[in-house]
Amino acid sequence: MNLVTHMTTDTTIINSFFIFFMKFKTTPYHFDLIKDNERLSAFWQAIKEYEGDNELAYDLGCGSGVLSYFLSTYFKEIISIEINPAAFACARENLADFDNVNLLVGDVLEFDFNRKADLIVCEMMDTALIDEEEVPVLNQAKKFLKPSGKIIPQGVINSAELVNMEREYVHWDENAKYDVFSDAMIYSEFDFLDGINPDFEAVLSFKAKKDGIVNGLKITTFTKLADDIICGPTPMLNPPLLIPFDSKSVKSNDLINVKLKYIMGNGIESIKTHVI
Ligand SMILES: C[S@@+](CC[C@H](N)C(=O)[O-])C[C@H]1O[C@@H](n2cnc3c(N)ncnc32)[C@H](O)[C@@H]1O
Repeated sequence: MNLVTHMTTDTTIINSFFIFFMKFKTTPYHFDLIKDNERLSAFWQAIKEYEGDNELAYDLGCGSGVLSYFLSTYFKEIISIEINPAAFACARENLADFDNVNLLVGDVLEFDFNRKADLIVCEMMDTALIDEEEVPVLNQAKKFLKPSGKIIPQGVINSAELVNMEREYVHWDENAKYDVFSDAMIYSEFDFLDGINPDFEAVLSFKAKKDGIVNGLKITTFTKLADDIICGPTPMLNPPLLIPFDSKSVKSNDLINVKLKYIMGNGIESIKTHVI
């Protein structure tokens, strides 16, 4: 599996939805999500694999309703839940003509699920699942999935590289300067159908590729939308995260062990790193 390049989703097809989406009511944040063609194409491709006779889908964190719109073609009923009242109001307006979409405002973690679904769509993703609630939400919601039910995305693959980074705080890589000192290593994989322990802790071992100073990790998350769809970072889907640790001088071929700890769903403040 090649995780270095982006998944080549067919962004030309999604362009045919463009005029429709330009009429969508959104918050500024949800507009950025819709504008991210590669992200939207990956979700559309995963959802359109459900062609056929399907009963119920949950769209958890439906935002402006774009994924519920995709689901409405393939499912008899969609229950879509959004915590943000402004986004919910947009979704209600955008999907007013869709009789099979039932929109609810509120916190999924407090939602009284009472029916089992064929599919759960939940994009509360962030790099390594640290900063959004994907893990706690799915740990609860997947009890309401039929035995044959599926989840979109299916899971994630996390990789790490040793870097020298300019800034001394945790940040996403947009406009960030850093120098890579190791090969990328896959350090964890999660399948969302499995129970996931939100407390993550591991020692990652890297071989330095050159002499210099290392002071951080770059974490990259690849999102598995379906068996055949893996989407690399896009501007709005899991952009790489840079995490600092105390500087260490290294020589080429040195082995560097870094302890990485965080709680998935508890935010970037939960991240702890140090060289051991
Ligand atoms: C990354 S956005 C995805 C929005 C939409 N599905 C899309 O693809 O454009 C995640 C959404 O989940 C919502 N959300 C986060 N936590 C939630 C919760 N506990 N209950 C319901 N919605 C939640 C956020 O307000 C946000 O709109």
